Amino acid sequence: MAPGDPILGLTEKYLADPRSNKVNLGVGVYSDDQGRLPVLKAVQQVEQALVRDQSPRGYLPIDGLPAYTAATQKLLFGAGSAVLEAGRAATVQTIGGSGALRVGADMLKQVLGDKATLAISNPSWGNHHAVFRTAGFKLIDYRYYDAPTRGLDFAGMLEDLGKLEPGTVVLLHACCHNPTGVDLDATQWAQVVALLKERNLLPFVDMAYQGFDKGIDADATAVRLLADSGIENFVVANSYSKSFSLYGERVGALSFVGADRDEAARLRSKIKQTIRANYSSPAAHGAKLVAGVLGSPELRTLWEQELREMRERIHAMRAGFVDKLAALGAPDFGFINQQAGMFSYSGLSKEQVDRLREEHAIYALSSGRICVAALTTGNLDYVARAVAEVCR
Ligand code: LMR
Repeated sequence: MAPGDPILGLTEKYLADPRSNKVNLGVGVYSDDQGRLPVLKAVQQVEQALVRDQSPRGYLPIDGLPAYTAATQKLLFGAGSAVLEAGRAATVQTIGGSGALRVGADMLKQVLGDKATLAISNPSWGNHHAVFRTAGFKLIDYRYYDAPTRGLDFAGMLEDLGKLEPGTVVLLHACCHNPTGVDLDATQWAQVVALLKERNLLPFVDMAYQGFDKGIDADATAVRLLADSGIENFVVANSYSKSFSLYGERVGALSFVGADRDEAARLRSKIKQTIRANYSSPAAHGAKLVAGVLGSPELRTLWEQELREMRERIHAMRAGFVDKLAALGAPDFGFINQQAGMFSYSGLSKEQVDRLREEHAIYALSSGRICVAALTTGNLDYVARAVAEVCR
């Protein structure tokens, strides 16, 4: 019997829990203030048009829907980006962000062979380890989270990255670090990018939450700095699960940047070979939804507005949670307001997390990670009281 997944396995337990007051702060899924998964209005409009048109259901190309990958490139690198103008990026549609990571890992493993090594932040999303290990990578941690300050161990991060062998693949969270919610600022990113270049490391950026902290462009700072850095090769995996609320449609993409147009063409051919031998070609529906929204100026504006509402609601829930905990006399949770994105590394111990689940039907990861995007004005008080109680 394989062990249950620490995140998706917890959702299985949550779904089987008969208690009506249960709250799932485990998996990274955004709820609206009514506790429902939103269906974005911009997405609904494209979907209605698709239903009306009833177009044939042929296979997509191996590398996906061209309108989807083109729109993705603009979102990642910015319209008018020099990387795009030079044709240096090969972008393919993938089965979600995890699929992008796995296709990228498989392709790199083929090229790097026994040398394939991934440096990964400590801590990181559990599936990062699983994906790269299964693809045959050796994993090394670099320092990232500083528990005493609940912030970033930036000096430790630089020191560890500075010691890596040239050619090591370095996994970076573009924004809304999962699981800690602790991000680099633009100045720190510039320093990291300079170091990656100097040490000849291969950046592999995971951007699953673009638009969930500050906005589309600000959240892509790491990608934009890499694009302008003169680093010849880097990789970006991205996902629309959260930003379009399209979790189950598995909409992701993988972009390999090469030195020039020729190298990008070779990279694309290798990625296509990897995909063909895995799942042949991606699914069409979710990609049509995203491409439809991003391809229409009107719907794109509507989507950006809906995305802004999502991030503002998360910010409001963070602030509300901190205030309620303070009013209840709990230890200081003010750091939750400094963290970005869906998650907070709450500092709760495994025992406290167990008590939350057993005594209050509140589900969180055993690492103490909570999904603040699942807090609502309806459950905030209940969750804060329970957290204050297990902290007593
Ligand atoms: C999470 O970290 O909860 C999300 O990214 C969902 C997942 O697949 O783990």
